[in-house]
Amino acid sequence: MKIDILTLFPEIALAPLSESIIKRAQAAGLVEIRAHQLRDWATDKHHKTDDTLCGGGPGMLLKPEPLFAAIEALRGLDTLVVLMTPQGKVFKQAIARDLAQHSHLLFVCGHYEGVDHRVIEHCIDLELSIGDYVLTNGAIAAAVVSDAIIRLIPGALGDERSSVEESFADETLLEAPAYTKPAEYRGWKVPEVLLSGNHKNIAVWQREQALARTQKNRPDLLKLD
Ligand code: ADE
Repeated sequence: MKIDILTLFPEIALAPLSESIIKRAQAAGLVEIRAHQLRDWATDKHHKTDDTLCGGGPGMLLKPEPLFAAIEALRGLDTLVVLMTPQGKVFKQAIARDLAQHSHLLFVCGHYEGVDHRVIEHCIDLELSIGDYVLTNGAIAAAVVSDAIIRLIPGALGDERSSVEESFADETLLEAPAYTKPAEYRGWKVPEVLLSGNHKNIAVWQREQALARTQKNRPDLLKLD
């Protein structure tokens, strides 16, 4: 898989993808990640990438010319062009699984108030948001989405089971609480059932706990069907 990130802040996009599992996935040749400076496609002498809004209003928008030039230079026949924006479809694990099937993703990162709408109409295949809040720029969001996708590429995770088990897991339930050793810490004990070796009882306990946790933290998930 190839991932290109077009942004005014290539270092912000690359920093979270330069350690640990994602670093190893790149070294193993599973994914090739490149970040590109949008300013390089601005042809005027000040390399201007933004301008004021037509019709008035506060803030600045990314101009169409550098974005069109960059996207046209970076995309190929198999490219999915994704704009990171708080106005996009909310990113979920199911979208990560779908994007992981693509051979080339180009993330276009918004900044300031966003991008000229002609870019969205004529260059963008998918608008994605990582949640209902506003970041200073889309490079952070592109790194988040890239991380979620790359860990799904077969071979990227050391323990392959983790992502396989996840993909079959009940998507309307959060995971049950989990414990490791020691069995007692500061007087707080690991629930006895988890030390019992009785896998049926453990599964029943985990299901109850998962339901209680979902009810407490994400009641919206239980109302899906
Ligand atoms: N850019 C700014 N905020 C964002 C968000 N929530 N998701 C994606 N891109 C963004």
